[in-house]
Amino acid sequence: MHHFRYVGQNLRCESVDLAEVARLYGTPTYVYSAATMADNYTRLARAVGGLDAQICFAMKANSSLAVLRHFARLGAAFDLVSGGEIRRVLAAGADVRRSVFAGVGKTEAEMRLALEQGIFAFHVESEPELARLNHVAGQLGVKAPVAIRVNPDVDAHTHAKITTGKSDNKFGVPLAQAAAAYAAAAKHPHLAVKGVQIHIGSQLTSAAPFVEAVTKVVPFVAQLKADYGISYFSIGGGIGIVYQDALASGQPAWWDAQPADRRPLTPEAYGAALVPLLQPLGLKILLEPGRFLVGNAGVLLTRVEHLKRGAGKNFLIVDAAMNDLIRPAMYDSHHEIVPLHRDTTRRALTADVVGPICESGDCFAHDRLLQEVGEGEYLALMSAGAYGSAMAGRYNTRALPAEVLVHGGAFELIHARESFEQMIANEKIPAFLQ
Ligand code: LLP
Repeated sequence: MHHFRYVGQNLRCESVDLAEVARLYGTPTYVYSAATMADNYTRLARAVGGLDAQICFAMKANSSLAVLRHFARLGAAFDLVSGGEIRRVLAAGADVRRSVFAGVGKTEAEMRLALEQGIFAFHVESEPELARLNHVAGQLGVKAPVAIRVNPDVDAHTHAKITTGKSDNKFGVPLAQAAAAYAAAAKHPHLAVKGVQIHIGSQLTSAAPFVEAVTKVVPFVAQLKADYGISYFSIGGGIGIVYQDALASGQPAWWDAQPADRRPLTPEAYGAALVPLLQPLGLKILLEPGRFLVGNAGVLLTRVEHLKRGAGKNFLIVDAAMNDLIRPAMYDSHHEIVPLHRDTTRRALTADVVGPICESGDCFAHDRLLQEVGEGEYLALMSAGAYGSAMAGRYNTRALPAEVLVHGGAFELIHARESFEQMIANEKIPAFLQ
């Protein structure tokens, strides 16, 4: 469920007319619904209410300061993956001490920063990393809290680029080698064994792979509790969202109409499947959702530049591009595209929706059925709140997009559009070319 819907002919986010945002701040602009984020957070927290659970928002999905502050206020901690993300959490005035630090290649400087800021735990991915962390903690005269990421070798049935829990992925320590990794961790004098972690992939649309992975590692987790007195088990992120019927899925009626065997994963189904498996462990359970919390809470607004009628194909050229939202180019992902002003009297149009970047991959949708729209009209790419702005770049010297947060009937710019001067600020012409 989310808070984007047509009121009359105009698409609104909560009580704000999105065309008004586009006119005021220009396009391409990401717009987020604070209420949708809060609803998602609350629903998930309730669904795992039977556990001693802590939600750590995987901020790689959306690391805007305002979004971080919003989740911090709701009670979230964070799943961090870089020194930059640690600094962002601090800049948002949020708490690093309940947050976890993941990633396969943490540098010594990042480890130091995390330790100085009192990180809750490091999610360690290899024995060499254990040795490095032990060394850094020793230099600081502290004990680093650690959990080892165990790779359960489960197929998450998701896109190859976002599956992580198979043995041929670079992530985690294979379950068969995990006991040895814990023994190695326990021998390091500057490490404190605190927990265990798994994460099998992203955009999972059924609870089954989560159940399979948790079931597979639970005996090992119980053994770790007995052997090392671990206090928590992090089950990672990965809950999928609805991309195909994104707009309709904002309404409860849409969910009611879905056949039981084809209903997308809900936090309630996730909780119902996992809570009984986790409860008997008597451990604190960490969740690391990214996409689920923010994905359907954001849209990318774009303006139509031209409708180019080609030989047997139409191209709707818009002012957003793959640098703003790379998911379709990178994962062939589907984002529903809807007009900000709906007009059912117009003819239908089938077109490729493309950006202005000079490569064919700069395409948001192939042969998409839309209402006919012309130059200057606005469209929204739905479900763009996760891995949208966070993955944006400057290819073709295009500025990073603006971001706006809606709260009820109010909206505010939370990330101003980058200026050309900001884009080139760190560049210089070397002496020999002057
Ligand atoms: N925990 C760990 C250790 C992760 O690696 C990830 C995501 C998460 C949690 C959060 O997963 P989520 O709940 O968002 O599925 N850029 C891709 C997704 C990459 C996910 C990377 N890891 C996309 O746009 O689909």
